[in-house]
Amino acid sequence: MNLLVINGPNLNLLGIREPNIYGDQSFAALERFIQAAAQESGASVELFQSNHEGAIVDKIQSAYGRMHGIVINPAAYTHTSVAILDALKAVALPAVEVHLSDVNSREPFRQISYAGMACEESFIGLGFEGYRRAIQYLCQKYGH
Ligand code: DQA
Repeated sequence: MNLLVINGPNLNLLGIREPNIYGDQSFAALERFIQAAAQESGASVELFQSNHEGAIVDKIQSAYGRMHGIVINPAAYTHTSVAILDALKAVALPAVEVHLSDVNSREPFRQISYAGMACEESFIGLGFEGYRRAIQYLCQKYGH
């Protein structure tokens, strides 16, 4: 099963960025964790990180006809981007949302997720483990 894993803005600064919220492990460590989780589930993953909304839209569009599912942490764009929501709906691939932190117990503006409206499952507040759960979910439901 081919999965596209997308990480949005500022996640490249993991380890440096607000470690009290996001932990002290680096983004490179997250990418290694995702690769290991994919291997465990027998999936192959393409990893993509961008700080740019349009680049994320382009990447979601590129998954059409190529990928079997999408795991996405749109970061701050979660709470603002109708364009990312529409792109996920347009390609109509099974998608799962991940957030490292528990967005529901933070500022009220983080409780709205546009991307989540196009996702069939969400793993929130589980740190890196959320990505593993998302990959497992897609493999169990859509892998053969
Ligand atoms: C985040 C939560 C978002 O609210 C925030 O803007 C992020 C990261 C998370 O993984 O917890 O950048 O998506």
